[in-house]
Amino acid sequence: MNKYLVIGNPIEHSLSPTLHNYWLKINKINAEYDKKLTNLSELRNLVESIKNNKINGMNVTVPFKKEVINFLDELSPEAQYTDSVNTIRNYNGKIIGHNTDIAGFELGIRHINYNVNDKNILILGAGGVVPSIIYALKRSNVKKISIMNRTIKKAELLKKKFNDIEILKWGSNYSFDMIINATSLGLKNEDKINLEFEKFGENKFFYDVIYNPKETNFLKTAKKNNNKTENGKMMFIYQAHQSFTLWHGIMPEIDDKVIKLIDQ
Ligand code: ATR
Repeated sequence: MNKYLVIGNPIEHSLSPTLHNYWLKINKINAEYDKKLTNLSELRNLVESIKNNKINGMNVTVPFKKEVINFLDELSPEAQYTDSVNTIRNYNGKIIGHNTDIAGFELGIRHINYNVNDKNILILGAGGVVPSIIYALKRSNVKKISIMNRTIKKAELLKKKFNDIEILKWGSNYSFDMIINATSLGLKNEDKINLEFEKFGENKFFYDVIYNPKETNFLKTAKKNNNKTENGKMMFIYQAHQSFTLWHGIMPEIDDKVIKLIDQ
């Protein structure tokens, strides 16, 4: 039986096995998808197992999306540009790293019919997923992308790659159409982002990359202040959809049943 894995640390929260195993079953593919709590020192051997066909494909999540690149043979253009790999496959004996977070973000936004074209976008955070979001937004012709990160140095590093983004001081006053929480704050129910969202006004679009919990305090507060809100569920589903297609050559269906699986 073919084997697929998602690796990360922590990994307990990951719903990738739920989604992939559902699609494997529906499409009658004889394979299983598991999750593995991983340490940095294990990355090399895990990639080696893909080369030896002991593992047939792997998703990579926080905090290894960059580190894992050291052990791969080739990168897709998107993975190369963003320095971020979330999907690995063995293609004719070569271990290739892909980035399906970019398409995941794009398709997730399209799914809810939000048009980012010509919008001012504020991103909170400068961690692993942010280069993929910036890449996707730039491709969709937004007006301006601004980054606010607690540690300003990390935001400034991003500017080296994406030189037309604007770096803002944490807590500075700013007007935007869409704000994206790409920090890890919200993963715990009690997490609160230390910003005065009331200052930002109404009728904006608040988007949280986090999908578990379903509604972070960031989204709760935004809703209270009459803003449109959305969590990262569709981004998650679409990145998995793209990985599945790369591995199996089949585009699995995204229907209400699939969405319900993730809406726990
Ligand atoms: P990494 O930074 O290792 O890539 P990540 O989970 O991808 O990890 O990113 C975590 C993000 O959440 C970072 O932008 C981090 O800000 P710092 O760069 O200042 O660490 C942000 N973050 C985590 N805890 C935070 C907090 N209490 N307040 C504000 N931002 C926080």
